[in-house]
Amino acid sequence: MKIAVRYCTRSGNTEKVAKAIAEVAGVPAEDVSKPLEEDVDLLFLGASLYGMDVDKRIYAFFDENAKKIGKIASFGTAASPASSVGRIEKLAEEHGIPMASTSFRCYGSFGMIHKDRPNEEDLKEARAFAGQVLADTNA
Ligand SMILES: Cc1cc2nc3c(=O)[nH]c(=O)nc-3n(C[C@H](O)[C@H](O)[C@H](O)COP(=O)(O)O)c2cc1C
Repeated sequence: MKIAVRYCTRSGNTEKVAKAIAEVAGVPAEDVSKPLEEDVDLLFLGASLYGMDVDKRIYAFFDENAKKIGKIASFGTAASPASSVGRIEKLAEEHGIPMASTSFRCYGSFGMIHKDRPNEEDLKEARAFAGQVLADTNA
């Protein structure tokens, strides 16, 4: 099974989560500016919320890579309980890409809010999420 991990980050929060997931998936975590080199069965895709939406780079990534993606497992960080996952689900639907049954979100630091998040506990949960998605996909 071919797996890739891509993330979009402005201040490094989502990158931390991406790296934890990539450890479990056994592939590198790479920025969304790097196109997929080949078709992948499963893409872990990480994003954050900025003004209640995902970064424009995520939209560009879908436009450029959608045909190569078999399934998306979405993860993200945000300062509020809201999540980028809903935005990713909508984009995936628009491009005809199925989603994994589980997603992951945690708080990400934003100025003085949620300092030090994601923390070790968040990263532990992110690793567990990755393990669950892989187990479900292989089942
Ligand atoms: C310009 C800007 C706008 C933001 N808007 C939101 C928002 O609408 N909702 C939210 O929950 N968090 C918002 N945040 C907080 C980020 O989603 C949060 O800090 C996230 O962890 C950043 O991830 P990153 O470091 O991977 O870019 C905003 C942050 C910035 C800098």
